[in-house]
Amino acid sequence: MLPTQQGCRQALAYPATMQDLIAKTGDPPRNTKPEEIAKADPRQRAWIEVNPTAVEANCRNLRRYLSESCALMAVVKADGYGHGAVTVAQASLLGGANSLGVATLQEGIELRQAGHKAPVLVLGNLTHAEDLRACLDWQLMPTLSSMREALLCQNLADGSGRKLSVQLKVDTGMSRLGCELKEAPRLVEAIGRLNQLDLKGIYSHLALADGDLQGEAALVTSQQQQSFERVLRALPAQKNGFCRHLANSAGTLRDRRLHYDMVRVGLALYGHSPNNHLHGKVDLKPALSVKARVTLIRDVPAGVGVSYGHRFTTQRPSRLAIVGIGYADGVSRSLSGRISAIADGQLLPQVGSITMDQLVLDATDHPEMEVGSIVTLLGQDGDAFITPQQWSDVSGSIPWEVLCSFKHRLPRIVI
Ligand SMILES: Cc1ncc(COP(=O)(O)O)c(C=O)c1O
Repeated sequence: MLPTQQGCRQALAYPATMQDLIAKTGDPPRNTKPEEIAKADPRQRAWIEVNPTAVEANCRNLRRYLSESCALMAVVKADGYGHGAVTVAQASLLGGANSLGVATLQEGIELRQAGHKAPVLVLGNLTHAEDLRACLDWQLMPTLSSMREALLCQNLADGSGRKLSVQLKVDTGMSRLGCELKEAPRLVEAIGRLNQLDLKGIYSHLALADGDLQGEAALVTSQQQQSFERVLRALPAQKNGFCRHLANSAGTLRDRRLHYDMVRVGLALYGHSPNNHLHGKVDLKPALSVKARVTLIRDVPAGVGVSYGHRFTTQRPSRLAIVGIGYADGVSRSLSGRISAIADGQLLPQVGSITMDQLVLDATDHPEMEVGSIVTLLGQDGDAFITPQQWSDVSGSIPWEVLCSFKHRLPRIVI
């Protein structure tokens, strides 16, 4: 059983109400520690459900889409895109992923502390010697973008009796991390001469792969690929196991010629296509749902202004359901009046401004709704479903950002 599952069962075993809590502990409320109240029931107000079996299945389906010689890196940075890094790392490895990608040193250490032994590449730049030394201690692979970093690594590994595995990143058109294109072959040679470093791979990152299959996105992606090819051709002969990689989820799904020796997949792992035209290439199942409870039902007449700014006014006698989730939980205010929630398989419009802790649904057409009813804000209920893409389409965000927003006070339940 995953540790989080265990934790969740234990948490659910706690008394559900304050009354039960007092009865159980015999303490007056003022002596009840806040942590105990928080543990009372993670599904009291609003929560996230994560389904690691979906991540595992997505990984298997992605694996089937790749050639046998192409490895799969599961990108589990940003706490596994809000799903819980340790949980999704485990599910990905069970589903056939060969390695893990993180953004920061701390994210890599978290995976090691949880017992994951798979290779871990740190995709972000580490600039301090102490951070690079920690990579040696925790067997994490830093990304190098310059000779400065390579020399830092060489110096700190010198005398440790251990070689540090590293990868070189080349900028082929993202203009973010990576060395200059023309410098790459020289850097590969120079790093090869540093006896404490083991250069395990070379990679780059695509800037427009999630764009259209024609036009600018196609042009830029093809130019990036050609630049990457030029670098690879100029490299000194590489030993076995040297890994060349370029594609994120979008690159993986849009063109097999972008696969090389490995693909680095994030969004698709969590069950989402980076764009509508890439949808369906691989069977993907969303792994995260956001749910909340109705905390109050109000019957109001026509003509009543709802929530801050009265951006919505009831047009008929209405039944309003107040739901305990808001922008402090990750439901962006920019979604106000533009989304729905699902109750018993039925879509109910959200009305008025989304506030910090609450939002309002128009439940006039769903008279069965009552205090304590559960609504699904993201995910599936019956035949109805709501995706991060739908939220992004109305808020000007992107599915990646939507998924990473749920990290503040929503308990995460592994199902
Ligand atoms: C370097 C790198 N590779 C791969 C990924 C995974 O991208 P995606 O979630 O689009 O698959 C990311 C995510 O931003 C990244 O920064």
